[in-house]
Amino acid sequence: MIRVEDLVKRYKKAETNAVDGISFQVKAGEFFVLLGPNGAGKTTTISILTTTLSPTSGGATIDGSDIGREASAVRRKVGIIFQRPSLDQNLTAEENVRFHAVLYGIFPYAPTYGLMARGYRAKVEELAKLLGIARDIHKPVKTFSGGMRRKLEIMRSLLHDPKVLFLDEPTAGLDVPTDRLCATNSRDSVTRRVAARPLRSS
Ligand SMILES: Nc1ncnc2c1ncn2[C@@H]1O[C@H](COP(=O)(O)OP(=O)(O)OP(=O)(O)O)[C@@H](O)[C@H]1O
Ligand SMILES: [Mg+2]
Repeated sequence: MIRVEDLVKRYKKAETNAVDGISFQVKAGEFFVLLGPNGAGKTTTISILTTTLSPTSGGATIDGSDIGREASAVRRKVGIIFQRPSLDQNLTAEENVRFHAVLYGIFPYAPTYGLMARGYRAKVEELAKLLGIARDIHKPVKTFSGGMRRKLEIMRSLLHDPKVLFLDEPTAGLDVPTDRLCATNSRDSVTRRVAARPLRSS
């Protein structure tokens, strides 16, 4: 599913490599964790694998698509949750999800939730329930706690059924049960649901 070969990143004017020739493979259905101290290059690696940054040398494929030559195919196959939150405080939780869906061409825009496609509403309901924020989904994000925001970001990143979900510092701010939900292989866990999808070809 993920194949990384001799990946190197040196930022402009830097004297050393931020990512220094790493190689690894992740199979479909696997839960893979990249560990390292601050500044080790984890965020840089994720940015390269999700095509927001280009490598200095080396390469990678996601489900057979090359991150350089087939960047748009890669973007359809990956979901990403950034280390720093990226929600619009002045919108409701659902509006944040809706604008993401429209921006990524997943569903056409409608001015209210009720007018959005049935498929969209079903997906929002399913994911909000899975993450335990169904009751709050129409509330403004500014009323959300840190952990609820994180859950909303997870929800948003799963909207297009990505084959691979990248989480940068995935459990930061989450409470213990959600932490566990993400980390265990229980049947209903978010990771398992994502992992259960990779085999489908697009
Ligand atoms: N935009 C940038 N320009 C120049 N150097 C950068 C840039 N982003 C990161 N770096 C450097 O690259 C190295 C790796 O940073 P990166 O953010 O990938 O680390 P990280 O493993 O995600 O760390 P953390 O655990 O703190 O999130 C660091 O030395 C950092 O200073
Ligand atoms: Mg980081």
